[in-house]
Amino acid sequence: ETVVLKVDPTNPEPDVIRRAADVIRAGGLVAFPTETVYGLGANALSADAVAGIFTAKGRPSTNPLIVHVSGPAEPVPPVPQARRVPDVTEVLNVASAWPETAARLAARFWPGPLTLVVPKRDSVPDIVTACGPTVAVRCPNHPVARALIRAAGTPLAAPSANRSTELSPTRAEHVLKSLNERIDLLLDGGPCSGGLESTVVDVTGEFPRLLRPGLITVSMLEEVCGRVEAGVRSEGVARSPGQMVKHYSPRTPLVLTEDADTEHQRLMELGLRVISLGYDLIYDYKFISDDPGEYAADLYAALHELDNGQYDRIVIEMPPDTPEWAAVRDRLTRAAARE
Ligand code: TXA
Ligand code: MG
Repeated sequence: ETVVLKVDPTNPEPDVIRRAADVIRAGGLVAFPTETVYGLGANALSADAVAGIFTAKGRPSTNPLIVHVSGPAEPVPPVPQARRVPDVTEVLNVASAWPETAARLAARFWPGPLTLVVPKRDSVPDIVTACGPTVAVRCPNHPVARALIRAAGTPLAAPSANRSTELSPTRAEHVLKSLNERIDLLLDGGPCSGGLESTVVDVTGEFPRLLRPGLITVSMLEEVCGRVEAGVRSEGVARSPGQMVKHYSPRTPLVLTEDADTEHQRLMELGLRVISLGYDLIYDYKFISDDPGEYAADLYAALHELDNGQYDRIVIEMPPDTPEWAAVRDRLTRAAARE
C-alpha cells in the first residue's frame, strides 16, 4: 500500500517530513514534489535502496539517476541569492571534484532546475551512475524536496516518479496512476510549477555540454560560462546515457505537425477519434497557453488528461524552433516517438 500524505508546499509540516525521512532512512521509496516534476527518492548512498527505484520504475539499469542535495537551511532573514548556494561539502559527499564551471553555474542557478554532471566519488554506488565515472547532481528549488533531503540526512537519488518511458508526473495523482502500490510513500505537495525536467549539463569536459534541454536555456548557461556544446542525442553512450528517444510518452499516439487543423481533419476523415492540444484551432482541442513557460508548466498535465480520454490520436502543432521553446520541442519529439 502506498501511503499518501498531504504536505504544505511552501511550509512543509515537520511531522510529515519526519515520517518521510524515516522511510528514506529505512531504505524505502518516497515520491516528493520538486519545482520541475515529482521525483521518486531513495537514499543515494545505499545500493539496495536505489535498486528499489529501478524495480518500481521498470527502469533499465543503463540509465543513471540524478542525486539531489538540499543546500543550506533557508536563511532567516533572507540573505542575497549568491549566499544561498549549497555548501560545497554537501556536494563533495558525492562528487570527487567540483570544476570551476560547476561552481559558477551552481552559484547562479541553484537551487533550481539545473543538473550538473561531475566526476563521482567512490561512496556513490555504481547502480546510481550506471557504473559510469560521473554523477549528476542537482539542488532542487522546492521547500518539500529540500526539507526531506535535510531531514533524511543523506542525498537522494531521484528520477521522475513514473514508470520508465511513461509521461512524467507534475501532480500527485499522476504519480499514483503510475506507481501506486510500488512505492512506500507519496508526499502530495500539489502541482509542480516548472513542469519539465531539469536542464542537464556535463561539466567534466573542456566546454560544458548540454545533455538535456530544460527551462534553463543554453543562452542562460552561456551568460555564465561562455560556450556550451550541444549534442543531446547523437553523442556516444558514455556522454549521455539514458537519452533514449522514446521517453515521456502518453499511451495515445501523439502526432506532431506544422498545421494542426489540417492534420486533425485528415485523421478524422480516416475515422479516428482525434483531439488537438493548442490554442485557437478549428476542431476539438484542449487549450494550452502560447507562452513557453506556461506551456511547459501545463504540458504533462494536459497530456495525462488527454491520455485518460477515449481518443485514438492527440495532435499537436510544433511550437517555433526558437531557444525558448527548445525544451518543450525536445519533450514533444520524445513523446511522439513510438520506439
Ligand atoms: O527535474 C529533474 O531532473 C527530475 C526531478 C525529479 O529532479 N528528475 C529527472 O530524473 O528528470 P530522470 O531520471 O527522469 O532523468 C535523469 C537524466 C537522464 O536523462 C539521465 O540519463 C541523465 O539525467 N543522467 C543522470 N546521470 C547522468 C550521468 N552521470 N551522466 C550523464 N547523464 C546522466
Ligand atoms: Mg524521467
